[in-house]
Amino acid sequence: MKIYVSRDAAALGVGADQTAQAIAAEAKRRAIDIELVRNGSRGLLWLEPLVEVDIDGTRLAYGPVQAGDVPDLFDAGFAQGKPHALFHGATEQIPYFKKQQRLTFARVGITDPRSLADYLAHGGYRGLANALPLRGADIVARVTASGLRGRGGAAFPAGIKWKTVLGAENAQKYIVCNADEGDSGTFSDRMLMEGDPFVLIEGMTIAGIATGASRGYIYLRWEYPQAKLALEAAIAAARADSYLGQNIRGSGKAFELEVRMGAGAYICGEETSLLESLEGKRGQVRFKPPLPALQGLWAKPTVINNVITFASVPIILDRGAEFYQHFGMGRSRGTLPMQLAGNIKHGGLVEIAFGMTLRELLYDFGGGSHSGRPIRAVQVGGPLGAYLPESQFDTPLDYEAFAAIKGMLGHGGIVVFDDSVDMAAQARYAMEFCAIESCGKCTPCRIGSIRGVEVIDRLVAGEDAAKQETILRDLCETLTYGSLCALGGLTPYPVISALNHFPEDFVKPIRASSAVG
Ligand SMILES: Cc1cc2nc3c(=O)[nH]c(=O)nc-3n(C[C@H](O)[C@H](O)[C@H](O)COP(=O)(O)O)c2cc1C
Ligand code: SF4
Repeated sequence: MKIYVSRDAAALGVGADQTAQAIAAEAKRRAIDIELVRNGSRGLLWLEPLVEVDIDGTRLAYGPVQAGDVPDLFDAGFAQGKPHALFHGATEQIPYFKKQQRLTFARVGITDPRSLADYLAHGGYRGLANALPLRGADIVARVTASGLRGRGGAAFPAGIKWKTVLGAENAQKYIVCNADEGDSGTFSDRMLMEGDPFVLIEGMTIAGIATGASRGYIYLRWEYPQAKLALEAAIAAARADSYLGQNIRGSGKAFELEVRMGAGAYICGEETSLLESLEGKRGQVRFKPPLPALQGLWAKPTVINNVITFASVPIILDRGAEFYQHFGMGRSRGTLPMQLAGNIKHGGLVEIAFGMTLRELLYDFGGGSHSGRPIRAVQVGGPLGAYLPESQFDTPLDYEAFAAIKGMLGHGGIVVFDDSVDMAAQARYAMEFCAIESCGKCTPCRIGSIRGVEVIDRLVAGEDAAKQETILRDLCETLTYGSLCALGGLTPYPVISALNHFPEDFVKPIRASSAVG
């Protein structure tokens, strides 16, 4: 009898280890023979710790299960799939899960993340098997035809980047995975690395073979120790079975991979700062050109992509470019794992094809706010994303549709606020974030963000408010056009969107009379 309890950090944070230990101990006490599998999370985070019982190949869900619930569950016969107050039926029939289109996350929560055999049994390494006999240009052509765009935020076409590196003549090239995942409300990279590390390794290996890069690094944010353990276990298993190394599966092609821990700064997620940090220097933004594709890590041609970008590649090489680009809308092809966070009833991961509206995501999946109060604002795309009011909730999840409303999808993180939010405080927070996280290389960001906080404070205090608003808008324009990178360049998105959509929060008498903290 197989019982699954997730080892995902979000599940561990709410007691999954204790639940797993209690199940093992109770089964032993009752002399019931069970196999306890520590899988990745299914992404239904409000049900964690989720316990799944495999009955004739169907996984039945119980959750959230705390250690103290375990004896009662055994009494009710949960090991035989019997009902209980915490029973939710078959996991894959839960509407939140059933309505998803899981391509990149197809195996997350299904397999044992540290078992290469399980990965292979669930279609793993089929993409690499197809890629190995191909010429680099043919692999790149398939990635280009799939329409895959970078999932780290800027949505740059992956195939074009790979083509540039393929065409760069150099004996040494590198593949770098951006696993810094610094955006607020995001956790898809972490969930994937913890729940299916082999798919990232496979994607990076395919990138190496495609572009002629024999070495790769995963730059992992230091706050992800569980992901580090999962990745290192998977890398060792892949190497032991020659899925990594000097002669991959007897093909004569080489690819080596290692994990490097990040420096703990938001700016180290920006690709050139990341490269500086990887080289052992302070994470500071580089001027472009030269592009990292031509002079990246140690000045060698480098592919740098996000975790989800690389992890989307194996299925493209396995099922074909046409299969992948069949999902989505407009120029946004495939699926995007959206992450629901903040004041939302059903927080978690939702992988769906581009094109669904934000409203559907918030209400059909998220179930509305956690507090039960109306949702007033949503920040999409991390700390540099715009605050969207209810009137924009019908925007489809598509890169261009979001750009058209001066927003961005970014890495797919969604932070929800109910009607008790103070949007002037959120605007100040966004500006202060820029001041704290600025790498200091350019003046508009380094100094402008500090002045910006002061101006917002004066505006909210009602000190010559009209003048302060003019100064703030002017300053934001300077940040937009005068910043070297998107940290300074996009900070105006949350600040100005808050000002434009929620002007009432910036007016002192109203703020003073509101009960909001
Ligand atoms: C301030 C800042 C922070 C960023 N943080 C991340 C991050 O944590 N993870 C990420 O994948 N991309 C991040 N990016 C985007 C990267 O610079 C780069 O576009 C990305 O690694 C390219 O990979 P992709 O094409 O697969 O998205 C950040 C960009 C900026 C300006
Ligand atoms: S905009 Fe800010 S973070 Fe970006 S290079 Fe300039 S100072 Fe550094």
